[in-house]
Amino acid sequence: MQFFVDTADTTEIKEFVEMGILDGVTTNPSLIAKSGRKFLEVVAEICALVKGPVSAEVTALDTPTMLKEAKVLSKIAKNVVIKLPLTTDGLKACRTLTDAGVKTNVTLCFSAAQALLAAKAGATYISPFVGRLDDIGQEGMGLIAEIKQMYKQYPAIETQILVASTRHPRHIVQAAMMGADVATIPPSVLRTLIKHPLTDRGLESFMADWKKTGQSIL
Ligand code: G3P
Repeated sequence: MQFFVDTADTTEIKEFVEMGILDGVTTNPSLIAKSGRKFLEVVAEICALVKGPVSAEVTALDTPTMLKEAKVLSKIAKNVVIKLPLTTDGLKACRTLTDAGVKTNVTLCFSAAQALLAAKAGATYISPFVGRLDDIGQEGMGLIAEIKQMYKQYPAIETQILVASTRHPRHIVQAAMMGADVATIPPSVLRTLIKHPLTDRGLESFMADWKKTGQSIL
């Protein structure tokens, strides 16, 4: 499973690149607002840091303007993926961009029916929001299982399942167990994945014992 980081914070992105665990980046208008930076500028910087796909979302609600925005965003770098909302206009823009060879990420997916439509429209990625479904008392990961099962029936479907709105390590582990193609993970969740109390405790006791030997490797 590929790991994308869900942020527009370039300092965080740099650290995950250095760890060698990052395959791509996703952003959305809320994350751009949180960064406090100019959209086009921050996307260009992210694309220079990461070789893999970088999702940049259109902000128009009608197809013609979405396509104009997509043109601007695509010019930033070769690895820009155009993120489109799962609406009628978004699906129309998806089909046009896919036919033109532009990679797309159809976002704000909350049902299997929507995921099927995105695949029909030729989306490169479908982004089901598991955390937001959990928030309203539904089983977010259940949706991933449904989409996986549905897409599996049709080998011609090339749309990749990008698990979004992940909130904790179990979402990531379950996504991998289900065979999702990608999980996009907020930096705080990525850090939580690294941590385990037994790792900290074990390291502490190794260090204490090592000190007792009075030795040094260097
Ligand atoms: O980038 C889309 C998605 O990952 C947003 O997540 O935490 O705002 O529901 P969240």
